[in-house]
Amino acid sequence: MEAPVVPRHIAVVMDGNGRWAQRRLLPRVAGHKQGVHAVRSLIRAARERGVEVLTVFAFSSENWQRPPDEVSFLMDLLLRALREEVDKLHSNDVRFRVVGDVGALGRETQQLIDQAQALTASNRGLCLNVAVNYGGRWDIEQAVARAVAAGDARAFAHYLSFADQPDPDLFIRTGGERRISNFLLWQLAYTELYFCDTLWPDFGEAEFAQALAWFAARERRFGRTGEQVREPVALPG
Ligand code: FPP
Repeated sequence: MEAPVVPRHIAVVMDGNGRWAQRRLLPRVAGHKQGVHAVRSLIRAARERGVEVLTVFAFSSENWQRPPDEVSFLMDLLLRALREEVDKLHSNDVRFRVVGDVGALGRETQQLIDQAQALTASNRGLCLNVAVNYGGRWDIEQAVARAVAAGDARAFAHYLSFADQPDPDLFIRTGGERRISNFLLWQLAYTELYFCDTLWPDFGEAEFAQALAWFAARERRFGRTGEQVREPVALPG
């Protein structure tokens, strides 16, 4: 199977905000603030290129362990984005979803998430998933628990957060680390993994284009051989 030139679903770990700020002798949170610009630019570029689903990791289940000031700042950033960005996303035909254990978030945040999801539910341009208080292990555990409660443990994958979406074709992690960090553990089974050293606030259109060019050159085999992929055997009849 040829890799589609444009990935249908891109998942992104936006790493390097803290270092971006520290290199400028700024507090770490200044990097997160700047990171929001890079998110906006990525959403625009993904829409323009015809990407169907974009998933960004804004806050992991483990990020609660950061210093309390940084956790509050990230939560405020989310709240502010919900207040200020949703209308613009809606007018650009973006379907907005938050994925994760949202029950642990503030009441106003949860209300705004519900409103934003309802407002944009029938948009068909780009589906933007923002992972908040999300962890791949949490997702598998909650799916198993729901499947068991429904008496059909084997069907657990239907209860995963992304069950109605294609698996990511391309995973991007900025910031130089080469790890998954408990992101989409189940869904990344056959995803192409792209790592770059660029710190997230510096990840602009040129860096995105580079990631897409790298992806377009991959041969996706899904367990088959290169020969099978390049010369598919004609089926009888
Ligand atoms: C990792 O960089 C980044 C995060 C934990 C937060 C990412 C959040 C944003 C970019 C803001 C997005 C906001 C919305 C509302 C979508 P790091 O802090 O681990 O950087 P470091 O590795 O340099 O310390």
